[in-house]
Amino acid sequence: MVSLRKILTVFGTRPEAIKLFPLVHALERDPRFDSRVCVSAQHRGMLDQVLEITGITPHHDLDLMTPGQTLDALTARALVEIGKVLDEEKPDQVVVQGDTTTVMAGAIAAYYRQIPVCHVEAGLRSGDIYHPWPEEVNRRTVGTFAALHCAPTETARDALLRENVDPSTVHVTGNTVIDALHWVTDRIERDPGLAAGLAGLERRFAGKRIIGMTSHRRENFGEGMQKIANAVKRLASRDDVAVIFPVHLNPNVRAVMNEQLAGLDNVALIEPLDYPHFARLLDISHLMLTDSGGVQEEAPALGKPVLVMRETTERPEGVEAGTARLVGTDADTIVRETQRLLDDQDAYGAMARAHNPFGDGQAAKRICDLLAI
Ligand code: UD1
Ligand code: UDP
Repeated sequence: MVSLRKILTVFGTRPEAIKLFPLVHALERDPRFDSRVCVSAQHRGMLDQVLEITGITPHHDLDLMTPGQTLDALTARALVEIGKVLDEEKPDQVVVQGDTTTVMAGAIAAYYRQIPVCHVEAGLRSGDIYHPWPEEVNRRTVGTFAALHCAPTETARDALLRENVDPSTVHVTGNTVIDALHWVTDRIERDPGLAAGLAGLERRFAGKRIIGMTSHRRENFGEGMQKIANAVKRLASRDDVAVIFPVHLNPNVRAVMNEQLAGLDNVALIEPLDYPHFARLLDISHLMLTDSGGVQEEAPALGKPVLVMRETTERPEGVEAGTARLVGTDADTIVRETQRLLDDQDAYGAMARAHNPFGDGQAAKRICDLLAI
């Protein structure tokens, strides 16, 4: 009897869940694998939103989130608890995605047991260890010992090769975020009710152009968040614009945004949206204002200009193609660049092009084939 390859997929936050559900679905369907899932639950509510909509029931749920958790406490607990799951499951390979604390701790726990690690979305580099912080170092750490590097683009592959990673372990697979977008778009087409919850806001803001907004970067906490809130307040004073802002559950984000923006006529501060509703928000938005990683990939794929509130990006493909622009966290710059897109049709037209260097929606299948070798 041929033995199945046991793959343990480990994740903990919303973006990891979104980018890994297509792979988990593919592994579950594929007769070559015994697929197991461990969630650290570094995020609780925002992770569960994705698990529910995608029908994934983890075999192990470590329930690690604590309110306002520190990096060191979370890292220590994740390392120990994921290690126990590895000892129990003894997988042939561990899969992690991206750059969070769960990714770094999960990969190291596997390395301590000499279990090969497959790194999905490998090779993203901003070149600055404090932007994004601590994600840049999390990715570089996993990149030093992963057995299989699934680079989403040629740019990411080249970054790994420059770091002397063994070329035979690096494969350009595309980014599973595009698989996820296809899946969710298809679901909404078949069942529009899945994303109908924004209808009230759509009526309230009829005739206005919608700015879809997200913000949560750790390096922006404090002053950066205040400046972002100030920019949003100024933009929302225009009567032809409305901002829809699903606010991240991190207390460092919520406190500032609630204090600065609650009650403004043209701003809707709402709870985090599940993935179908966020896809709907992308669809109805004129442009996106964000410091998110994933949104930098999704918005260009849907032809939505994206202004990135960061100093640098590990996803240069959108900027190079002219569909994304770095605006930092200076309030004047955010306001100026957003007004330009609102008032200059040519500038808007130049950015509002569907551009998708991140994949063709087949990344999960390619990764499965690599895991089977
Ligand atoms: C984490 C990742 C970041 C990723 C982001 C996606 C690290 C270091 N950071 O940042 O790379 O871009 O997730 O969103 O791994 N909270 C809740 N419920 C939730 C989620 C978070 O209440 O469902 C609150 C909790 O108080 C928690 C805090 O947010 O302690 C921070 O969560 P944490 O995972 O530590 O950091 P993020 O800022 O979410
Ligand atoms: N997203 C979501 N609901 C929201 C905001 C974002 O489902 O209210 C999705 C979004 O489509 C993207 C991912 O969450 O796929 C991005 O997650 P986040 O910005 O938290 O993390 P990052 O990508 O910066 O690591």
